[in-house]
Amino acid sequence: MPRPARPDRASPYGRKTSRPKVDHRTRAPAREYELEALAGLEHVAATELDSVPLARDIRGPRFWYPGDPERLTRMKSVTAVYRVRGWDVPRPRGLLGHQQLGELTAFLREVVEVGGHTSFRIGAAGRESSVMQRIAEELQTALQLPHEPETGELLIRILPQQGGEGWDVLARITRRPLSARAWRECNMAGGLNATIAYAAHKLAGQRDNDRIFNPMSGSGTLLIERALMGPYDAMVGVDINPDAVRCAQTNIRAAKREIEVAHIDALHTGLPARSFDLVMADLPWGDAIGTHGGNEALYPAFLKEMHRLTSQRGRLCVITHEIRLFERVLAEQQKWNAYELFQVASGGHHPKAYLLSKT
Ligand SMILES: C[S@@+](CC[C@H](N)C(=O)[O-])C[C@H]1O[C@@H](n2cnc3c(N)ncnc32)[C@H](O)[C@@H]1O
Repeated sequence: MPRPARPDRASPYGRKTSRPKVDHRTRAPAREYELEALAGLEHVAATELDSVPLARDIRGPRFWYPGDPERLTRMKSVTAVYRVRGWDVPRPRGLLGHQQLGELTAFLREVVEVGGHTSFRIGAAGRESSVMQRIAEELQTALQLPHEPETGELLIRILPQQGGEGWDVLARITRRPLSARAWRECNMAGGLNATIAYAAHKLAGQRDNDRIFNPMSGSGTLLIERALMGPYDAMVGVDINPDAVRCAQTNIRAAKREIEVAHIDALHTGLPARSFDLVMADLPWGDAIGTHGGNEALYPAFLKEMHRLTSQRGRLCVITHEIRLFERVLAEQQKWNAYELFQVASGGHHPKAYLLSKT
C-alpha cells in the first residue's frame, strides 16, 4: 500500500518573518495578499511563495508584499491571488457607510487599475441578501463597472475576519483564475487542472537530463507545464485519441514550445526498454474518459509496460481518481514501490498523485 505523503512542515504555509510596511529595496508600501490553492496543494503553494522575493509576514495563505503584483500572477501552483483589506465593521452593512464605501471603492479601483477587469461580481455567503445587493449597486456606480453576478471578472469576496471582529474584502487581482493558463486554446473533457500538473512535476522532481514520457497526454497539460518549468533532455507524449493529439499540438503551439506528441497506444509504442527516466501519467479516471471495466485491464498492463520503458533508477508519477483500483493493482504487484504525493480536490473529484520507483 502506498505510504501517505508527509507535508513539508507542520503548517503548509510556514515561514514567518517581520513585516516591513515599506521595503527599503522598492520603497513601495507593502500590500496584503491572499493565495488560493486547490485543497491538498497548499503546501506546494507555500513552497512556491517562499521563492517570491520580498514576500513577508507569511501567515497561512496571507502575506505582505511591496513588489509588482505581476510577479504574483506568474505563480503556477495557485488558482488565484487576492488583494486583502479589512474593515472594522460588525456586519457587511457597515461597508455602506460613507467613509467605508469611499475606502472600499479606492481599494477596488487600485486592483482594477492593475488587473484591467471589465466587470465585477460578489462571491459571499448571502450574496443575494439586500445588503449585498446594495453593496453591488453602490460599487457599480462608484467603479463604473457592470455588475455581472455569474461572470464578473473582478471577483470580490466579503468574509468575516478570522480571529477578529471586522470584515475582510478580498479582490482577485487577475481577470481569470490563474489555473486557466494562457496557453490553453484547446479544452478537452478530462483535462487536468494545470496547478495539479505543476504540483505533480514539482514533487516528482525536475532534472536537466530527464528523458520524459507522458503516455496518455490528452490536451497536453503535463507536457506543457513541464516544458515551462525548465530544461530536460527529451520529452514526448502519446495518446490513443487523434483528437487529443491535435488538441495537445494546438496548446503546445500556443505555449510556444516544441514537444512531439504521437498518435500511438501507450501500451504498444515499440520503443526500446529503459527509454525514459521519468514517466508522468494522468490515467483515465473511468468517468469522463475510459470506463471502470476498461481500467481493470488497463491499469495492470500500464504498470507492466511502464516498468519496461523506465530506466533502472527512473520514476513513474501517476495521477488518478480510480484510487481503490489503483491501490489494489499496486498491492498485487512487486515491481514498483509507491508513495502518495498528494490528494487534491478538483472539480468535484479527489484524485491522488503517486510516485513510484522500481523495487
Ligand atoms: C485523463 S485523460 C488525460 C488528460 C490530460 N492530462 C489533459 O490534461 O488533458 C486520459 C487520456 O488517456 C488517453 N488514453 C486512454 N488509453 C490510452 C492508451 N492505451 N494509450 C494512449 N492513450 C490512452 C485518452 O485518450 C485520454 O486522452
